[in-house]
Amino acid sequence: MKKLPMIAAIALSAALLGCSKSELHVAMEDMGGSLKAIYQTESLDEMKAQTDAFFVALEKAKSQVVNPEDQATFEEGLKEVEELALQVKAALEAGDAAAAKALFPQLKDVKEEYHDKFGVE
Ligand code: HEM
Repeated sequence: MKKLPMIAAIALSAALLGCSKSELHVAMEDMGGSLKAIYQTESLDEMKAQTDAFFVALEKAKSQVVNPEDQATFEEGLKEVEELALQVKAALEAGDAAAAKALFPQLKDVKEEYHDKFGVE
């Protein structure tokens, strides 16, 4: 029983599966991770750092090209997300974490609206 080649094959498949995630998928996951971190922490500094990270991921998402017929809708949705995220940033800069977190339901709505449009589960 040759276990080593089998383990190598499994590891390789896992690596390939990992690679199959599109850049957009990774950027979206990073956006979601930052929002979750903002929501879960009590530290204003941490919230600000995660907001910066959110914008980095959002820029990565914005730089992606989708089907030509979907590109305008894609840009419109990310613009809506960006506008809300700028409000989150402004609230944090004013030291108002509660106002920042109060914008999250709107972010969730935009996400759900556009995920529906793009058929994202
Ligand atoms: C705060 C806003 C958003 C967050 C946190 C977010 C997060 C995510 C996450 C985590 C995924 C991976 C699949 C999943 O687990 O559901 C995803 C996929 C996707 N999202 Fe978003 N999303 C947001 C807004 C948007 C908007 C506005 C659009 C379109 C304009 C969009 C388009 C997509 C598409 C096309 C995918 C599929 C990408 C792929 O798997 O290749 N998302 N998003």
